[in-house]
Amino acid sequence: MPKITYIEHDGAQYTVEAELGSTVMETALRNAIASIVAECGGGCTCATCLMHVDEKWFEVVGPPSAEEEEMLDTAFEVKPTSPLSCPIKVTEALDGLSNTNLSRPVSVTLRRVVVSRPVLPAS
Ligand code: FES
Repeated sequence: MPKITYIEHDGAQYTVEAELGSTVMETALRNAIASIVAECGGGCTCATCLMHVDEKWFEVVGPPSAEEEEMLDTAFEVKPTSPLSCPIKVTEALDGLSNTNLSRPVSVTLRRVVVSRPVLPAS
């Protein structure tokens, strides 16, 4: 099984075995990596699974899709080599993926939308 090293924002480092076919995000959740929140469960709609990788690993994981790019535009602390971890499938090519410097966990809070009825003039 490929091994992935997660480095939390506080420097804590965890090397874990990753199941082939799962994702880098799922592997983080399964191993209680606190910096990967993954609020949307892997739907590419929250950016709380953001990670930072070295350039050499960025070439392996590949550039973000247009959908991911949209989410990255809304995220904090994005670097040129910061992919979302939820779309990245674990393959043997990821064995040794390391230097995954994770951002501080960021929670996305949806704003409440208040809809009010229009006030109509009295007739
Ligand atoms: S888990 Fe939400 S964008 Fe990756």
